[in-house]
Amino acid sequence: MSIQHIAIIMDGNGRWATQRKRPRTFGHQAGVKTVRSTIETCVQLGIPSLTLFAFSSENWSRPAKEVQRLMDLFMRSLNKETPELLAQGVQQNFIGDLTQFSDKLQRKMHEVASLKPSQHRMNLNIAVNYGGKWDVLQAARKMAQEVSQQGLDPTTVTEQQFQSHLSLADQPAVDLLIRTGGEHRISNFLLWQIAYAEVFFVDTLWPDFDADALLKVVDAFNLRERRFGQTSEQVNA
Ligand code: IPE
Ligand code: IPE
Ligand code: MG
Repeated sequence: MSIQHIAIIMDGNGRWATQRKRPRTFGHQAGVKTVRSTIETCVQLGIPSLTLFAFSSENWSRPAKEVQRLMDLFMRSLNKETPELLAQGVQQNFIGDLTQFSDKLQRKMHEVASLKPSQHRMNLNIAVNYGGKWDVLQAARKMAQEVSQQGLDPTTVTEQQFQSHLSLADQPAVDLLIRTGGEHRISNFLLWQIAYAEVFFVDTLWPDFDADALLKVVDAFNLRERRFGQTSEQVNA
């Protein structure tokens, strides 16, 4: 089946800048270009959902100046890119605990998320102040509330019911998870949603991850056999 959902951990901006003897924020700036080409390629491929990890709940621990520059860049990119994204048919959504951002940025995210492209082609989910553990916990809290308010028997709660409270519940499960920058870890990105994703760790640093690099990963994905617990013989029957 064709790819329904790609999720990407966009890593390696800092090292890309350091290699060029430039401040880390120079790498973040360069990374915006890759975000643009990635979105374009995914729209062209007809991918219904793309989720990008832009800022983790742990990234607040970085030097205050870097965090500030990331917030400025985020605001600037939302202003600059949104008209073109709408023209391309891209609906932007934001996932994560948005309450930690400045009022101005929160208002901007709500405004951008409320803008609907006239011809919908792709959901672009931007994960900011996102943590996979936070997501599961907030869903568990909502589920518990539902159980107590509606007098549900907790032993009857289904995966489907629980899942409905998670971020991206209205979108297909992640088929393909990519992490650039060479690290082999999830860093508290999507957890539940990647339960059966094919995972690709690529060494390319995010600013260098161009359309060709993405298409190579998509080709490699298409060669993988997804068995979902079955045997190869069953899958190919
Ligand atoms: C990813 O690149 C961008 C964010 C986390 C915001 P990094 O900034 O983590 O780059 P490296 O891993 O230090 O090279
Ligand atoms: C993960 O990258 C977060 C994003 C890409 C937004 P990090 O660079 O923050 O991850 P760690 O700290 O190396 O695990
Ligand atoms: Mg990193």
